[in-house]
Amino acid sequence: VSDMLIDSFGRLHTYLRISLTERCNLRCQYCMPADGVELTPKPQLLSTIEIIRLANLFVSSGVDKIRLTGGEPTIRKDIEDICLELSNLKGLKTLAMTTNGITLWKKLPKLKECGLTSVNISLDTLVPAKFEFMTRRKGHDRVMESINTAVDLGYNPVKVCCFLEIGSSVSFLENFFEVNCVVMRGFNDEEIPDFVELTREKPINVRFIEFMPFDGNVWNVKKLVPYSEMLDRVVTQFRGLRRLQDHPTETAKNFRVDGYTGTVSFITSMTEHFCAGCNRLRLLADGNFKVCLFGPSEVSLRDPMRSGADDQQLAQIIGAAVKRKKAAHAGMFDIAKTTNRPMIHIGG
Ligand code: GTP
Ligand code: 5AD
Ligand code: SF4
Repeated sequence: VSDMLIDSFGRLHTYLRISLTERCNLRCQYCMPADGVELTPKPQLLSTIEIIRLANLFVSSGVDKIRLTGGEPTIRKDIEDICLELSNLKGLKTLAMTTNGITLWKKLPKLKECGLTSVNISLDTLVPAKFEFMTRRKGHDRVMESINTAVDLGYNPVKVCCFLEIGSSVSFLENFFEVNCVVMRGFNDEEIPDFVELTREKPINVRFIEFMPFDGNVWNVKKLVPYSEMLDRVVTQFRGLRRLQDHPTETAKNFRVDGYTGTVSFITSMTEHFCAGCNRLRLLADGNFKVCLFGPSEVSLRDPMRSGADDQQLAQIIGAAVKRKKAAHAGMFDIAKTTNRPMIHIGG
């Protein structure tokens, strides 16, 4: 791994998240401000050629995992070409996508052929009317269809089938597939057991995510259901919940109910952050580079690239930003007070 990707705490950043668009076909309340967001004018967004050039630089420097995000990545018209080009980069092991699943059922077979190795689908409720309330759009049935399509296409029962109990060795399979569920008090916290129940027969990993503050999402600590409370609810309702081994750089803490096919996990960004194992960098749709999800500082890679910077000059800019990365985020109350960006611009 090139020095460009190593921060001052010795963390190796081998995972790049690329936001392909600021647009989305849903309007989730925790992601998009009620009055919408200002969209960057098209000429100021990265072109596909620019994205591939930067991805190439990152991968040749040691990045081995790229996750495509948005907005909603599948609405980018040339998404298949982008996947094909990225999956051909030498050294890339994982090409993943985080999507809302609205159109994925239709697009996934082709995306798989183009080299997409993993998908994470967001699903916050099992009740269609609540889905419409949260996303301000219809489409619950299509998201469910996408989850089934991912299972049918062999997007794996996640790490489910390769997680071993703590103490044994762990091997991670390709073709992961996760279901992301942002838990908000009073909205879907009562559904936690229903989601866990889904994993009885379905080979899926449901990840319960603590609600995080971003600009315009009206975050409030009362709406946050802490990891400890979510875990309590699961433990009291399901016998034989076992902790599985987590990968040191992953965002989730993983569990399985004894005898169940799937697994459940918790992403505890607010109450037990996992910054010490952070390996993630972010390229936004407007070409800004962000070294921490909650770090407000960003540096443009688009501008130097358009003024003729060569790869070495870009590497210097990237490396300097990575070296400025903090050890950890500032804590949920400080984060909530700091101006960042709306989630829809960052892509998670
Ligand atoms: P895997 O590659 O499958 O492990 O997924 P991931 O967790 O890296 O990505 P995903 O897009 O599915 O994000 C799931 C949740 O984790 C979202 O709420 C993200 O905002 C959050 N998340 C992802 N990366 C980071 C990170 O670097 N820091 C923090 N605090 N949260 C993150
Ligand atoms: N808090 C926690 N997770 C969020 N996501 C979007 N907004 C938030 C938030 N405020 C999740 C999405 C998606 C992933 C990229 O991040 O549901 O699964
Ligand atoms: Fe990494 Fe920042 Fe997320 Fe912590 S908050 S895990 S440092 S991106």
